[in-house]
Amino acid sequence: MTNNMPEVANRRKQLLEQEQRLKTRMSKIRHKIAVISGKGGVGKSTVTVNLAVAFTMHGHANSVGILDADIHGPSVPKILGLTGQRLQAGPPGVFPALSSLGIKVVSMDFLLLDENSAVIWRGPLKMTAIRQFLSDIVWGDLDFLFIDLPPGTGDEPLSIAQLLPEMDGVVIVTIPSEVSQIVVRKSVTFARKLGMPVIGIIENMSGFVCPKCGAKIDIFMSGGGQKIAKELNVPFLGSIPIDQKVCEDSDRGVPFIVEHADSQASKAFMEIVKKIEAFLKSREKQSNTKMEVK
Ligand SMILES: Nc1ncnc2c1ncn2[C@@H]1O[C@H](COP(=O)(O)OP(=O)(O)OP(=O)(O)O)[C@@H](O)[C@H]1O
Ligand SMILES: [Mg+2]
Repeated sequence: MTNNMPEVANRRKQLLEQEQRLKTRMSKIRHKIAVISGKGGVGKSTVTVNLAVAFTMHGHANSVGILDADIHGPSVPKILGLTGQRLQAGPPGVFPALSSLGIKVVSMDFLLLDENSAVIWRGPLKMTAIRQFLSDIVWGDLDFLFIDLPPGTGDEPLSIAQLLPEMDGVVIVTIPSEVSQIVVRKSVTFARKLGMPVIGIIENMSGFVCPKCGAKIDIFMSGGGQKIAKELNVPFLGSIPIDQKVCEDSDRGVPFIVEHADSQASKAFMEIVKKIEAFLKSREKQSNTKMEVK
């Protein structure tokens, strides 16, 4: 029998050091918000990026980061026009990529050989990657870290919940249809079980206003997000309509809410930003009161 005790002790020491690094790095980020959904393709990545852009443009320049924690289907780099970037390493650690608006971005996409490469990993490896993204990346001092997640309640959201217990909360994205509402319940249950506050629900792809005739067509119905929020007793943050420009800008890698600030969808985003700000303020107030009581 080989004696692997020193190896085990060494590994344990490395893990403890990494945990300490994670705590130190994360303590420099004031707010951490994850974007989740029960279903795929409802607009999580689009919402994550546009929220990051909105906060950058409204008083938090050079103080916003995005962790693209969708290991199998990273799409934040594409939406921000960062495809093909590589992460640079230096003595303090690995540096995030920087978008044109000064948003710091880390994504699995920056570690893959090319756009066609696929990550074929089981849960523990994904958790290791996410842990490293939090502990070994030089995020610096940030006001916000937005975390984009794959759909559902699998390894990635679970890792984030476990690694960031101090997180401000989750934003749940849905589309209005009843099928989507059913899975919103799962997201809310997941967040509650893991002790993550639900900041609120966003109804994306909520109706389409014809640019030619102005008629509103509810392609995926409308109002479902609000209904389910009420039913589950969680805040409703707002509805974002379908806008062809959202899709076009994402594909072009330009920030939609900057390019089309006057659109109904951009205005909806800005209303959502205000509600998130109000949530964060009331949370801060609550924790200050708790500290005073102690
Ligand atoms: N309000 C909108 N109007 C028009 N297109 C939209 C809107 N929201 C998202 N899209 C488009 O829908 C597609 C899916 O969006 P996105 O990738 O953000 O979804 P997702 O929930 O992150 O998907 P996944 O579950 O695969 O991670 C993208 O092409 C995006 O540009
Ligand atoms: Mg996505």
